[in-house]
Amino acid sequence: MDRVVVKTPRLVLKRFSIRDAAGFFELNSDPEVLRFSGDLPFASIKEARTFIRAYRQYDLYGFGRWSVYLLDTNEYLGFCGLNFSTAKQEADLGFRLMRRVWGQGFATEAGFACLRIGFSKYGLEKIVGRAMPENAASLRVLQKLGMTYEKEFDEDGIRWVQMSIRRDEFGNFYE
Ligand SMILES: CC(C)(COP(=O)(O)OP(=O)(O)OC[C@H]1O[C@@H](n2cnc3c(N)ncnc32)[C@H](O)[C@@H]1OP(=O)(O)O)[C@@H](O)C(=O)NCCC(=O)NCCS
Repeated sequence: MDRVVVKTPRLVLKRFSIRDAAGFFELNSDPEVLRFSGDLPFASIKEARTFIRAYRQYDLYGFGRWSVYLLDTNEYLGFCGLNFSTAKQEADLGFRLMRRVWGQGFATEAGFACLRIGFSKYGLEKIVGRAMPENAASLRVLQKLGMTYEKEFDEDGIRWVQMSIRRDEFGNFYE
């Protein structure tokens, strides 16, 4: 099955596959990468594979988080994409990339493609982004994508800043 969701100038976003398991394991093994995520590393590549096999967002909503690859070399860089929370009844944009490729605009490039798909293909009215207040890089990416501050809240002992963008704002921002 074709896993490709979208190509950007430098990247290709694909649905998760067990072929990503080793890369996903490596990504989550870097404490700097997980620092502001609230997540724990996978115990093994096998556990990453199990997570990917159990991933249901695509079946339920069409969209989900997607694996990010370099277009030129097909190198696995991490993930970026949407996630629908039934509890919150909203879709959020999330991203996590290998530390060695930070600072080159990849999260912004991938995030833009995800917002466009969320609004145009899946008809979402609003997409949110959440980050810890200390996660300046992540908040900056959300801001660069046109999101604006919405609120702050505590969940499971973690403080989150929530930013968001509505479909009409997205259209105006990129006109
Ligand atoms: C957040 C993350 C995906 C950003 O990826 P990236 O490809 O480096 O992002 P971009 O290059 O598109 O943009 C990063 C922006 O943040 C800025 N930035 C980076 N570190 C910063 C810091 N410590 N303080 C302020 N701004 C910072 C960069 O300068 C850039 O902004 P600019 O274009 O105005 O200069 C990456 O840092 C990451 O994977 N972090 C760990 C996972 C994570 O925290 N994910 C979010 C969880 S909610």
